[in-house]
Amino acid sequence: MSSEHPPVEPAVGGEGEARGESPGLAPPVEDPAPSAMTDPASAILDSAEAALVRGVDASAAVREAAEVALDAERRTGSHVDILTRLQQDEVVSAFIKLSDQFLGAQGFTEHGFRHANLVGRIANNVLRHLGADEDLCELAAIAGYMHDIGNVVTRANHGLSGAWIAYDALRRLEVDPYRIGLVLSAVGNHEEQYGSSIGPVGAAVILADKADVHRSRVRKGADTTADIHDRVNDAVTHSFLRVDADAATITLELTLDTDRSTVIEYFEIFLERMIMCRRAARTLGCDFLITANGVPLG
Ligand SMILES: [Fe+2]
Ligand SMILES: [Fe+2]
Repeated sequence: MSSEHPPVEPAVGGEGEARGESPGLAPPVEDPAPSAMTDPASAILDSAEAALVRGVDASAAVREAAEVALDAERRTGSHVDILTRLQQDEVVSAFIKLSDQFLGAQGFTEHGFRHANLVGRIANNVLRHLGADEDLCELAAIAGYMHDIGNVVTRANHGLSGAWIAYDALRRLEVDPYRIGLVLSAVGNHEEQYGSSIGPVGAAVILADKADVHRSRVRKGADTTADIHDRVNDAVTHSFLRVDADAATITLELTLDTDRSTVIEYFEIFLERMIMCRRAARTLGCDFLITANGVPLG
């Protein structure tokens, strides 16, 4: 078995972040100045919700999920059967699509099928390269794919709401209750504000999720000079989670364009997540290391 991930580009990833806000917290909603207000009819007509109701149904989301999944499979070299079933599930597909739209409206980075597929496949790869049973690898893929689905309800506590959405989906797929329980705990514990690394499935999801910081997550039109989260994501041109079972290390290898942001800015907003990654790696019996532009940190 190879001790390394297949290349992942854009690789592994982290959580999304609100522009100008602490990671994981929704930005404050400010009342627009009267002069900035549009008329209600235009506001409603132009809303993401109206566009979605007009132009997208669940079957379209299923097609989109499958297309993005193929791309993620090509990048990670990881094929996971259960993901195919989840990608074909209308409720799961619609909720991931809506989660991404809702977070986009709040100023967060990409949280759609790209992020879901990469986190699922990379979580699977992490356990696979450490020699885990196939069952655990597949559960990590399931949990990784659905870890952010709770954002369809609210950003706050989306790990908890997501767990119950995952429960419903997995019951419909007739997954056995003990396996469902492992997925629920991984989804429910992936956020640094309240999550704990309590087992290998959840640890793999944490590592895969928090490492997904990459310029492909920055929304089109975002002002990367004004917002540190967009700027840091935009600066990351390559992110790779290297698993070395023999050395018992998991290394996040980052390549940053230092003309766009700096390593200091990266840690300014992601320190808490890196600490969570270190704990997750320990759960897997590994040390967590970070390199930036080839230089080991810490
Ligand atoms: Fe995430
Ligand atoms: Fe999340």
